[in-house]
This record gives sequence, C-alpha cells and structure tokens, in this order.
Amino acid sequence: MHKDRTSMQAVCVDESGKLDVKHIPRPEAKDGQLLIRVAATALNRADLLQKRGVYPPPPGESEILGLEASGVIADIGPGVKGRWILGSEVMALLGGGGYAEYVAVPEELVMPVPSPLTLYQAAALPEAWLTAYQLLHFIAKVKPNETVLIHAGASGIGTAAIQLVRLSRAIPVVTAGSPEKLRFAEQMGAATGINYKEEDFSEKMLQFTEGKGVDIILDCVGGSFWEKNICSLAIDGRWVLYGMLGGKTADGDLLGKLLRKRGHLLCSLLRSRSLQYKAELVRSFTEQVLPHFQSADPPLQPVIDSMFNMEDVEMAHRRMEANQNIGKIILKIGVKLE
Ligand SMILES: NC(=O)c1ccc[n+]([C@@H]2O[C@H](COP(=O)([O-])OP(=O)(O)OC[C@H]3O[C@@H](n4cnc5c(N)ncnc54)[C@H](OP(=O)(O)O)[C@@H]3O)[C@@H](O)[C@H]2O)c1
Repeated sequence: MHKDRTSMQAVCVDESGKLDVKHIPRPEAKDGQLLIRVAATALNRADLLQKRGVYPPPPGESEILGLEASGVIADIGPGVKGRWILGSEVMALLGGGGYAEYVAVPEELVMPVPSPLTLYQAAALPEAWLTAYQLLHFIAKVKPNETVLIHAGASGIGTAAIQLVRLSRAIPVVTAGSPEKLRFAEQMGAATGINYKEEDFSEKMLQFTEGKGVDIILDCVGGSFWEKNICSLAIDGRWVLYGMLGGKTADGDLLGKLLRKRGHLLCSLLRSRSLQYKAELVRSFTEQVLPHFQSADPPLQPVIDSMFNMEDVEMAHRRMEANQNIGKIILKIGVKLE
C-alpha cells in the first residue's frame, strides 16, 4: 500500500501489448460507487484480447485490464444506498480496472464474500460464475432433468457451469482437450466427457441421450464446432453461443440444419450489458447461488488453477494463452506471494 493516497500501482499495457506495473492516479468513489482496495483479480480471455487492442473497454469504463476483483471496502461514495461497512470483504463484477490496487465500482455490482471463501477464492468468482449463471438461467432457462453440453468443461466458466447445472438438478456433460481436464470435469460433477481432439463429440452426445440429443449447449467455441453442435442438439434445443475460440465463420448448411432441428441459436455477451441488467444478474445470483457456497452438499467451490504475483502478470497470461489452466488464474494484487 502507498502512503501517497492519490496514486496506486496498476498493470499497464504499452503500445506493443507488453504488461508492466506502473504508478498511476488512484480512482475515487463517485456517486453510487464503492472504492475497493483490491486483494486479487483473476484473468479472463477478454484481457488477452484487450491488451492486443482488439477488445476495447465499453465507453466510460476503466482502460485498465481486469473484469473482476476481490478486496475490502476502502471508501463509500456519495449517494450509496446499501449498508456497506468500511473494511468488509467484497467481490465485484467490473467493466475494467481489476489489475490495480484500487477500483471504483457501482454498488449494485458488489457482493459480500461468502464466509468459507478466502479473498483469493472470491476473486475467482464474479466473471465466471455470473456468466455461467446468466447463460443457464437468464438465457437458456435450464429446467431439471435437461441435459446441458458444456464446451471447455475445465475452463473457468466450464467448472462453474458444471456445478450450477447440478444445482439446478439438470445433467452436465462436457468436452475438453485432454484426459486430465476431462477427469477434473467429471470430479466436478460432469456425467460424461469427451476429448474433442480425438473423437466426434456429437456421436457421444447422441449415444448418451439415446438418440434424443442435448437440450442445451453452452458454446464458447463457435466456428469449428457448429456442425457437431447442431448434430448434438435435441429437437427444439437451445444453442447458446458466448465465445468464438474456434473461429467466427461457419461454412455450409448451418441454417438448414438448424431449422430442421427447430433449434434456437441464442447469443450472449455480458460486458456490454447495461448497469441495470448486470445489477439484476448480481442480485439474482446473490440470492439464489451465493448461499450454496456454504450450505449445498457438496458446497459449490470456485476452482483455482494457479496464483501469480502482480509482477508476474506476463507469466500468468502465457499460461492462459497456452490453454493450460483448469479453472481460474488468480493475480494477487495486494500482498506478495511467499
Ligand atoms: N459472452 C460472455 O459474456 C463471456 C463472458 C466471459 C467469457 N466469455 C468467453 O468464454 C470463453 C471461456 O472463458 P473462460 O474464462 O472460461 O476460459 P478459460 O478458462 O481460459 O478456458 C478456455 C478453454 O477453452 C478451450 N479452447 C481454447 N481454444 C479452443 C478451440 N479452438 N476449440 C475448443 N476448445 C478450445 C481450452 O481448453 P481445452 O484444453 O479443453 O481445449 C481453454 O483452456 C472465452 O472465449 C471467453 O472470451 C464470454
């Protein structure tokens, strides 16, 4: 922490996309905002794109990377309505600014840290869990006993989605790119998994559902999976596209195949949503899911792949770029790792 109350350390991106820790002005809690002294943030794929200049923050958001943070309340801005207490432990969904010692955030996007979780575990929660919750409940409207195919089953969002599907009494099935990732997804609760690099996942999905197909697909892959996705889908199924790790283009009879299945293609982005929408998502998640980090049997758990000091941010990014992580990569901001 700095004695100078107007500056802070933050990870900054230079013109070539290189990341460096620098001193920059500290934000202030404006109307309706809380100032959080950040303990940790977590990496997201959006950070990898943003540093390359291809995914700029929405207008009005911080230019600093970081879509989530955990820490303690350091200041309460004018016009804040909730009963927040200085020093209490919180986590928040951010439009940007998490890779820094302080971040100011609308109070509606701040959540208390469930008591069994450390601040490092809490940093793994907001973006992955709110995205998975939104996809399942706001977009796909999952119902008990439905089968949900989750691609990248060992990813940050995948490991959250498996647990949320189980919590909804539906059946999670996954794809992943290695036996280790598949084993982990199954430990998290996946009913079955398939290595998409070695086998045709649509055949396995049809076998698993006795020819019916899966009711919902959570798809962060897009282009390279489109045809197998439609083959895997049940009649009237919902295919939720929320990423394009496998490319943006789809050649072939996509519309014809989708129509024959009466499939619903639903697309979702969280970062560009309105404050009102995100506030409703955070409120619903806080009521419906946060208590289950304490009381469910087994309790929900954020999955941490690895933790890095702020100075080692480049190393942390390389791990995600190489698809090595299972769960979330944490960046410690407030305290040095031993
Ligand atoms: N729409 C939204 O609101 C929203 C919000 C947050 C994140 N996202 C997107 O969601 C995706 C997942 O995010 P995350 O943080 O959970 O990611 P993550 O933890 O970094 O995991 C992503 C995994 O996807 C798999 N993958 C990468 N390229 C692939 C390809 N070409 N084909 C198939 N699988 C591939 C890799 O695992 P394997 O080893 O198993 O291949 C990789 O480890 C990202 O694309 C991110 O941008 C969208």
